[in-house]
Amino acid sequence: MASLSLPEPPELDFPTWIRQEAAVTGAVAAKDKGMHILFSGPTQSGKTTLCRIVASLRDYVVVLGSKPKDDSLDAYVRDGYLRIDHWPPTRSDIRKCRGPGCHFIVWPKMASRADLRKHTGLYLSVLDSVYAEGMWTTVVDEGLWMCDPKGLGLGAVVSDIAYGSASNGVSLYLLVQRPANVPPITWTSVGQALLWHMGRQDDVREMASLGIYDPRAAVAAVQNLRGHQFLDLPTRAQAEWSISEVPASWAA
Ligand SMILES: Nc1ncnc2c1ncn2[C@@H]1O[C@H](COP(=O)(O)OP(=O)(O)OP(=O)(O)O)[C@@H](O)[C@H]1O
Ligand SMILES: [Mg+2]
Repeated sequence: MASLSLPEPPELDFPTWIRQEAAVTGAVAAKDKGMHILFSGPTQSGKTTLCRIVASLRDYVVVLGSKPKDDSLDAYVRDGYLRIDHWPPTRSDIRKCRGPGCHFIVWPKMASRADLRKHTGLYLSVLDSVYAEGMWTTVVDEGLWMCDPKGLGLGAVVSDIAYGSASNGVSLYLLVQRPANVPPITWTSVGQALLWHMGRQDDVREMASLGIYDPRAAVAAVQNLRGHQFLDLPTRAQAEWSISEVPASWAA
């Protein structure tokens, strides 16, 4: 019996892809709702770079930076985000917002290894106030570190946001190297998964099963990705999958 070939996503040039993304984002925001997005790929695949471009479509954004040093996070500051080490923002911080909206990166300086876990309370206050206020697009740049008990142990609060806050206008953008050790509710609540090539079969299968397409086809699509290419795998009806790549000149 002849085997049926699996469907393949179309490749879109990045300006076309981001235009479509802007249309989806705008439609969701017009209803005062949020939409969570998962960015999953190995280290250096391009998650922070793509997320920065996708987050720029939003008016009220708070990025949680938890790495001591990261050129891709510096690019948020170059784009005009105000780097702060406290929350809530002060009046003076808010006066510096260039609009439309406000763009903050909560990213305290960290000089030594001992500093890595020093700011858990700060991230917790951001997440608590996002949950209460609604509206903020919240970028968790290092999802595993933020959630895992061996990291900052904020998995329960990130889960609460994933579970309950899209109806309050919050969009959670969660970046992970792999889904393991991140509470499943955080990535099964997303409306869109952006996936890079990943080596582990189990991870690929788990991520592929999120989408509205045949998981076997999604697995094949992820395995065929090269370099900084990503698969856009929607998990909501009437959206279409595609492959694209940030042009090198747009990357930091
Ligand atoms: N599409 C691209 N084309 C060329 N270079 C890229 C592209 N995307 C990202 N890069 C570069 O690759 C490097 C890693 O990108 P980035 O920091 O976004 O990866 P990451 O997945 O967030 O990594 P990590 O998991 O370590 O945080 C950066 O130097 C960035 O400028
Ligand atoms: Mg990163």
